[in-house]
Amino acid sequence: MDVSASSTPKTMFRWVQKLYNALGFKKGYNFILSAAFLAFFQFVPAIRYKVILFHRINGYTIILLVLLSNVGALMIARHTFGGTIPTQAAVGLLVILSTCAIGMAYYNVKRLQLEQHRAWMLRAFFYLLNRWDVSSPRA
Ligand code: HEM
Repeated sequence: MDVSASSTPKTMFRWVQKLYNALGFKKGYNFILSAAFLAFFQFVPAIRYKVILFHRINGYTIILLVLLSNVGALMIARHTFGGTIPTQAAVGLLVILSTCAIGMAYYNVKRLQLEQHRAWMLRAFFYLLNRWDVSSPRA
């Protein structure tokens, strides 16, 4: 066995590529679909009032999935819908908008401004639904 070959940059690159393919980064919808599904429960008042801890854990899971899905979207921006410059610009803008909206929502909940927390999460998900559409791996 050629020991040196296992630590070459090329081998490392292949290994990383395998990992992110397995995680589904390139598919573009794995993370965002799961986040959208979980987000539904965040808007149900009964869950929010009775199981506050669920809202917290679910909330942090959603934020993580959203950020990962934004990374995936940036990765496929050059290929999606033909990968034209306007498409790449749209994906980039929506990634920035959704990340900032999530940031604002987090800042607001920490300052106990709950109406603003809710409003920014809603905005974030409208941006994300657009981003999901524009960065779907078709064409
Ligand atoms: C996708 C939608 C949402 C996400 C991802 C989300 C995420 C989160 C997270 C991560 C926290 C914990 C913050 C901390 O550590 O202090 C939190 C807290 C909170 N959220 Fe949301 N949230 C969402 C929607 C909503 C909505 C629609 C409301 C309704 C007004 C709401 C009300 C609250 C309240 C009252 C808390 C404080 C609960 C506590 O003390 O732990 N959230 N949210």
